[in-house]
Amino acid sequence: MELSKVQELLASLTIEEKIGQLIQLNGSFFEEQEEVVTGPMQELGIHQKDIQLAGSILNTVGAKKVKNIQRKYLEQSKKKIPLLFMADIINGYKTTFPIPLGLGCSFDTEMIQDIARIAAQEAATAGIAVTFSPMVDLVRDARWGRVMESFGEDTYLNCQYAKAMVKGYQGKLDEKNNIACCVKHFAGYGAPIGGRDYNSVDMNERTLFQAYLPVYQAAIEAGCEMVMTSFNTIDQIPVTANYKLLHTVLREQWKFRGVVISDYSEIKELIAHGIAEDEKEAAYLAMHAGCDIDMMTSVYVKHLKSLIEEKVLDIQVIDDAVRRVLELKNKLGLFENPYRGADEQLEKERELCCDYRHKARESVQKSCVLLKNNQQLLPLKKDKKIALIGPYSMSKQLNGMWSIYADEKETASVYEGIINHRGIAECAIGAKVLEECAGNQLGLPISQDLEFDEKRELENAIEIAKKAEVIVLALGEHPYQSGEGGSRAELSISDSQLGLLKQMKAIHKPIVVLMFSGRPLDLKIIEENCTALIQCWFPGVEGGNGIADLLFGEANFSARLSMSFPYSVGQCPVYYNHDQTGRPVESVGINRFTSRYLDVPNQPLYCFGYGLSYSIFEYGSIHLDKKYLTKNTFIKASVKVKNISNVKGEETVQLYIRDLKGSVVRPVKELKGIAKITLEPKEEKEVTFKITEEMLRFYTISMTYESEEGSFEVMIGSNSETYNKALFVLQK
Ligand code: GLC
Repeated sequence: MELSKVQELLASLTIEEKIGQLIQLNGSFFEEQEEVVTGPMQELGIHQKDIQLAGSILNTVGAKKVKNIQRKYLEQSKKKIPLLFMADIINGYKTTFPIPLGLGCSFDTEMIQDIARIAAQEAATAGIAVTFSPMVDLVRDARWGRVMESFGEDTYLNCQYAKAMVKGYQGKLDEKNNIACCVKHFAGYGAPIGGRDYNSVDMNERTLFQAYLPVYQAAIEAGCEMVMTSFNTIDQIPVTANYKLLHTVLREQWKFRGVVISDYSEIKELIAHGIAEDEKEAAYLAMHAGCDIDMMTSVYVKHLKSLIEEKVLDIQVIDDAVRRVLELKNKLGLFENPYRGADEQLEKERELCCDYRHKARESVQKSCVLLKNNQQLLPLKKDKKIALIGPYSMSKQLNGMWSIYADEKETASVYEGIINHRGIAECAIGAKVLEECAGNQLGLPISQDLEFDEKRELENAIEIAKKAEVIVLALGEHPYQSGEGGSRAELSISDSQLGLLKQMKAIHKPIVVLMFSGRPLDLKIIEENCTALIQCWFPGVEGGNGIADLLFGEANFSARLSMSFPYSVGQCPVYYNHDQTGRPVESVGINRFTSRYLDVPNQPLYCFGYGLSYSIFEYGSIHLDKKYLTKNTFIKASVKVKNISNVKGEETVQLYIRDLKGSVVRPVKELKGIAKITLEPKEEKEVTFKITEEMLRFYTISMTYESEEGSFEVMIGSNSETYNKALFVLQK
């Protein structure tokens, strides 16, 4: 409807009806049966009258159920304002894709946009109008469980992905196949001290603005309709009550006009943080800062009215929040069609349809990273006698922790993938993913095979391995060892699996390790004891098929790491674009008094941008068409890349720039461009990047965002450790 009608509707609401629009509850308040629960369920003190006025509902999905709840809700609604259905569609709805950290390794923004499009189409038929995605938190610490949900450690790359996801999900919102999206978790949630979830974030303002905030801004500039606040503090102020972030940055500087929603129960958590005496003060702090919707607490519904009556809060603040919610519902066409895309027939036709599965399989091929391939063991010849061993050999738990709507039965295991390729595969589980104790610490119900006879399983594994020509060992961490609340202080796989690896090594056959995890694990021992190593992440519904395509060479590897793999957990946080110190490690000899560890190297085991292929790419030196850059010109940086192998392949050419001197310390390098090229065997192509003054801007000593004159290094290569470099000078 016309915006003027939205204003009229707002003006017609009572204070209770207004506050109702700012409450979000999960489906259990509307339906008897248990709903998907993504946070602590607690006695909220919510009454039936509050439920009848609630503005939105989270994590209730399914065309029939959504239409039923909406119909019953509207029948009793006086002002006929439809409920807004929101859900966590993170890496797909029913058709699940690799976890975002795996997708981040594709360096393929077009594919990412397609995936968001598919997720929107599938979820829209199930009645979802808003997804709590993209999660774009920059991550540098593998101990944090939610790295699995992020695209990785690089600001530039995450910005590209954020824009692609928003475009894929949204489009014109009154079209019922599109869904609105919610960028999260604003801000800096990915940098908790110690990698421990919900912990404080302690970073200076320059790092926050330089590395962390741009990704949320990119999503907003792409048109993202909603922002979710994060559980952490910034500057010792919980984000949900952080006026500077939610008002000054988001509203005044970035001109964001959309809805701000709290994360699950976090307004009430202001009390636990120790900045709110009670719920009433929590309600004031959050609303004053600019948090529009209260997710899953009763703080707003209980206290906003009295805060208005006591003139502690101005009604205008409430009206602005409610208007934003009503305008979002209007953009989504809910007033004209409260059921939007919910359609039982279409839901059946679309869920897991062939086209969606095909894209999912392609995304697996583009997300698995080949980390090692000695003796060119891979690709495996189809007639090779394979022993498929390990807890992930037949597992269907390949969707990751946020695939809350996936049906595991629909997931292709590695075993099924190999069978689909060659008809047979000898298989044995051989070990357990989790030690007993670890299972009890997950805090989530898991199905553990209590009949698992570790001794017999190991004997089985040894027996089939002895008869095979190659061992494919599918190992990893449990899906619940990452994700929300999944922080770990150790980055290892279970002792049971390490024991299995040792036993397999003793058989002296080539070993291909498939690693399933939601984070970079410490792969040192595994790397030392295998011939080939593939990081598979949690690859989603087509995991086994996509992995088999790569194993047998039906597809070639093209993924590159979007997050560094630490040499040891003691290095965390470890990331490529770190600042230079005053005592850098010298390239030759040992100088104790330099910035290094006594016991491990500074470099990660595998660096950002690293990944092997069945092809071999050779880089020529960099050619710059001019040495001097000014504000109104640009430099062309060109490099020739040749595929010197006999296998067609795709290379991700990466452009890094280093500012050799600034008014503040600058990173040793920063990704500033990528180019994906496909090369036939022996084919050579020239890749050219445009370097502009704008790419060199940063937050200077006066916190102004601008470039500074001086010398710069440009590096172009196949990963962040490339030393293929050239120099240029910026002159103002
Ligand atoms: C969770 C998560 C958030 C999610 C929300 C709703 O606590 O932090 O990412 O969108 O609750 O499920």
